[in-house]
Amino acid sequence: MDLKECGYSLANRKQMRKKSIHPCQSADKDVIEETHTENLMTNLSNAYASDLLPSKEGKDLTKCFLLRVVNILLHYIEKTFDVKSKILDFHHPHQLLEGLDGFDLELSDHPESLEQLLVDCTDTLKYGVKTGHPRYFNQLSSGLDVIGLAGEWLTATANTNMFTYEIAPVFTVMEAVLLKKMCEIIGWREAEADGIFSPGGSISNLYGILVARYKQYPEIKAKGMTVLPRIVLFVSEQGHYSIKKAAATLGIGTDNVIEVKCDERGKMIPAELEKNILQAKRKGRTPFCVVATAGSTVFGAFDPLHDIADICEIHKLWMHVDAAWGGGLLLSRNHSYKLGGIERADSVTWNPHKLMGVPLQCSAILTREKGLLGACNQMQAEYLFQPDKVYNINFDTGDKTLQCGRHVDVFKLWLMWKAKGTYGFEVQIDRYMELAKYFHKVLKKKDNFKLVFDAEPEFTNVCFWYFPPRLKHIPKSFERDQELQKIAPKIKAQMIVEGTVMLSYQPCGDKVNFFRMVFSNPATRQTDVDYLIDEIQRLGKDL
Ligand SMILES: Cc1ncc(COP(=O)(O)O)c(C=O)c1O
Repeated sequence: MDLKECGYSLANRKQMRKKSIHPCQSADKDVIEETHTENLMTNLSNAYASDLLPSKEGKDLTKCFLLRVVNILLHYIEKTFDVKSKILDFHHPHQLLEGLDGFDLELSDHPESLEQLLVDCTDTLKYGVKTGHPRYFNQLSSGLDVIGLAGEWLTATANTNMFTYEIAPVFTVMEAVLLKKMCEIIGWREAEADGIFSPGGSISNLYGILVARYKQYPEIKAKGMTVLPRIVLFVSEQGHYSIKKAAATLGIGTDNVIEVKCDERGKMIPAELEKNILQAKRKGRTPFCVVATAGSTVFGAFDPLHDIADICEIHKLWMHVDAAWGGGLLLSRNHSYKLGGIERADSVTWNPHKLMGVPLQCSAILTREKGLLGACNQMQAEYLFQPDKVYNINFDTGDKTLQCGRHVDVFKLWLMWKAKGTYGFEVQIDRYMELAKYFHKVLKKKDNFKLVFDAEPEFTNVCFWYFPPRLKHIPKSFERDQELQKIAPKIKAQMIVEGTVMLSYQPCGDKVNFFRMVFSNPATRQTDVDYLIDEIQRLGKDL
């Protein structure tokens, strides 16, 4: 490419090189800003990816292109935090596939210009969902932490792989530091605990069950399921579906996941667990693991961990705690007692990408016993995990995992922890709890809303129905519930079309569709909560 074509001249480039001095070394901030402005205004219609670094003349063009990308991202970030901006500009999948206003998802044989790529970047964000918007309440993971984002940018720039210290020296040691910290917070101070970051809570749960089975039956690794009796595991009926998925994946089978009844708040009933264990034994099955949930997905319920730990001890069962959602609460001195007994678990899933607001994805599987993950998973591939390396190979942690290549998920968490300190997370989490209390209190006073649980929320989940005027005074009946079932999806559909708020809904057991509010978005304020209530009434009053 001729650099002149895209607004460059040699003199211009030399000048830019001269100007691009580190701000700390130069008092001339204006010169740098001017350079940025020039870069942002450069038209890249005749420039292509092949002109960027490592192309010989690519340095200035690379800077120009990346600054423009960053400018697009900054614009998006500002919009994300602006309550007046829409959360999404909804289109159906077929519309995206057909192409929208020149945004064409089809791939071609020929390269597109850098200018076109910038348009594509803008459009990709335009038709996406602003998950950091103060009124985005749709998922357990929400919010946009600027430090976490910076961590993710750095991680992508470093573009390395977590399997060995050799190629990720800083990140593997950082991972060890974080795992140690998290194990200590769980309460495994004396024990030589262990763990690894994995691609999400579902995979962490899979690791928990995998290690539980290996501990009981180490021969499984070589011989497979044929040498095992019919093993069963237990989880509450409010447990996450990833437990059944893990059982299917591991060859245990979903029929061998026994769902334990919950009380009216969605907590596992210990007596039911014991009953189920005895029943399974009588039927000739072999219990090996209990999965307790600390912060259930829909109701935000905490299973009674001490009672479950007692039962596990009596029956010699592995206790896994799925604290994917609730784990962050351990950082709050006011609320951590709700996970009392977690220190008695054999393994724990904890997702910093949920309550702690770390950008997706960031999840850890932690085990009380050191070495099990390694023993269970390692294959000692000689091309990667050579025993005679120059450094301490205990930091080559890759063989503990099911993966070979592994994304660096730790840096953004480490950087956020540095930025906030443990107390900063605590403040953030306590604020969510206050917001949940406030929301619950306001809804309780409104006669067109009904809470699924009248009692004050234990976590940041608040579940509720909205009753439009035509249903408000009709007593509960099958017919009334059939109508109520349709209300939440209709309101949600309208929310998406208008892009004003996003909130999830679901039926559960005998409860027809209800909304689930959760607080995990640091941008949310009380005014956004008030707005949500008004918006539901506005969208639902004529239904
Ligand atoms: C309790 C619980 N466990 C596990 C998971 C799965 O986590 P992930 O989405 O990171 O796979 C979720 C997700 O919402 C959850 O709520």
